[in-house]
Amino acid sequence: MANLAWKAWDMILFYLRSQTKHRIDSPNLYAILEAMHDATSLEGKRLVELEQYRTELLQNQEELDINDLGAPSQVRDRSRRTLGEEVRGSAIPTFQGKMLAKLVHHQHAERILELGTSFGIGTSFLHLGCPNAAIDTIEGNISVAKIADGHLSRFANGHANVINGMFVDMLKTVDGPYDFIFIDGDHRRSATRNLLSDLRPKMAPTCMLVLHDIHWSKGMVGAWNDLQTLEWVSATLDLYHFGVVLTGLDMDPKHAISVVPRWMKPWQLGIFR
Ligand SMILES: C[S@@+](CC[C@H](N)C(=O)[O-])C[C@H]1O[C@@H](n2cnc3c(N)ncnc32)[C@H](O)[C@@H]1O
Repeated sequence: MANLAWKAWDMILFYLRSQTKHRIDSPNLYAILEAMHDATSLEGKRLVELEQYRTELLQNQEELDINDLGAPSQVRDRSRRTLGEEVRGSAIPTFQGKMLAKLVHHQHAERILELGTSFGIGTSFLHLGCPNAAIDTIEGNISVAKIADGHLSRFANGHANVINGMFVDMLKTVDGPYDFIFIDGDHRRSATRNLLSDLRPKMAPTCMLVLHDIHWSKGMVGAWNDLQTLEWVSATLDLYHFGVVLTGLDMDPKHAISVVPRWMKPWQLGIFR
């Protein structure tokens, strides 16, 4: 109950401080938001194939032995649960997957790193956004990583490399530089802070880093606030489900903007754009 009240309060604060893309003066940030609202859909056939994979997983009653790595789940409380239950609680929803694909497409990413593969659904959206990019994706649960690997070896046609192990260990084995990084694993403030310092040397000079679920908990809001103060961050966009961080841009002062779609603040219209 307290958590629900906190979430409602946090959502109100987000709404009050947010603006529509029409109030944004930076061409770089405006272009990202334009790309996100681009109505062109992803290639339909591949998307149908991906959603079929999700449906098959959701219907799977096989029991998995899973330790919650990172912050404990807010909805699942048993360590033995069915594969379908695990997918329902962990996989990125379709509308957010499409947003992710548009972000990675806008970045023209060539090398992508994902922390938290789970069953490879987010990885598949990354692949749909940039089909020729090389993706490294790290997952700590061996049984989950095997399922993701089986799917991705078909779906991503050799472009996705599933690495099984803990983030902290596996990050030592990858080189980068990555021009797009998606963090969707350990939803704790201290873990996120530590990961960011391990990730910094792996980033390309101009990198887009996307942090998922930044309003999931007080800890994640804290992690997002910490991130915005880092010296190497040029600008940040709070899109509620995602936090987008840009590096390597010449932006003074640093921009930190919360954004809502126009229908949520219809009076913030764009007259000239
Ligand atoms: C929210 S799920 C990822 C969802 C996935 N990105 C998607 O879009 O479908 C988080 C995953 O990260 C893994 N994970 C969490 N903390 C980890 C850690 N410290 N090292 C390795 N894997 C971790 C969990 O096992 C889980 O499968």
